[in-house]
Amino acid sequence: MALQKPIPTILVTGSGGQLGSEIKVASKNFPSYHFLFVSREDLPIENDQSVRKFFEENQIDYCINCAAYTAVDKAESEKEKAFLINADAVGNLAKICSEYQTKLIHISTDYVYDGTVSVPLKEENAVGPVNVYGLSKLKGEELAIANDASALIIRTSWVYSSFGKNFVKTMLHLFREKEEINVINDQIGSPTYAADLALVIMKIIGEIQQGQSFSGIVNYSNAGATNWYEFAKEIKSLVNSKCKINPIPTSSYPTPAKRPLYSLLDTSKIRKLLQLEIPLWQDSLKKCIDILEA
Ligand SMILES: NC(=O)c1ccc[n+]([C@@H]2O[C@H](COP(=O)([O-])OP(=O)(O)OC[C@H]3O[C@@H](n4cnc5c(N)ncnc54)[C@H](OP(=O)(O)O)[C@@H]3O)[C@@H](O)[C@H]2O)c1
Repeated sequence: MALQKPIPTILVTGSGGQLGSEIKVASKNFPSYHFLFVSREDLPIENDQSVRKFFEENQIDYCINCAAYTAVDKAESEKEKAFLINADAVGNLAKICSEYQTKLIHISTDYVYDGTVSVPLKEENAVGPVNVYGLSKLKGEELAIANDASALIIRTSWVYSSFGKNFVKTMLHLFREKEEINVINDQIGSPTYAADLALVIMKIIGEIQQGQSFSGIVNYSNAGATNWYEFAKEIKSLVNSKCKINPIPTSSYPTPAKRPLYSLLDTSKIRKLLQLEIPLWQDSLKKCIDILEA
């Protein structure tokens, strides 16, 4: 009798966040995989011993690392914590993944770029983070690759979801509370609906299962380009809000962390690798708003 192939097991760390929650939703459509979802409480990734024990006790084929310190402004005053979670812990996770032949899919950010180039950013473009969060994420990328040459890093930008905290939900709250708000109009990028990214990650895993190899860095965001003011206006029109939105420059809205003025990702590499048509950010935003409004 032919031996049955074991069902691949996918570990999702930081599963309580936006992306982790969307992978959980998507997992319902992938019954051919076994998923292990672990939140920060279940498995704090900076705890090397717990992570190692977890890998000893579970046979894991893929590890999607959604765990991260994502408080961009707070990171300026919590540098050690940001580096512990976004860099050191990622390096250790990569080392363990390499030892256990687990494919690591790690998520990084557009904030590794410095924002001075104003054509869509390719994976090989120069990096130069302008804030502590970006520096810690860049160090995480470097440690992931140094400890596990087969690691795959997905850089993404402006992530939102119906889960967790994000710009879309903040705007919806402000539209209910305020008659008028100011939103920055000189930072260019593209929003990423975490539900779309979750499906792309599952597509990558599917391709790896079919024998395609994926490692190094790939960029993913929704298609199109915008700024936070235009993004806010689109949200407003989708919910028919009467709130007045005023465009303001970054210089009028000081924050502890500097942001890159331009961080639009060039996604041609992932589109080619996966034969992928990436949804326009406006279309994905509508899907998310529909869920939030339901
Ligand atoms: N959000 C964005 O706009 C954005 C943009 C570009 C790239 N990214 C990257 O995309 C990935 C997913 O981001 P996201 O938006 O889903 O972030 P998120 O909603 O903040 O989720 C991150 C998750 O990680 C958990 N976490 C924090 N510290 C941890 C630790 N030490 N051990 C285990 N889990 C821990 C958090 O738990 P608690 O909530 O309990 O702390 C949270 O559930 C991250 O790598 C992030 O850097 C995000």
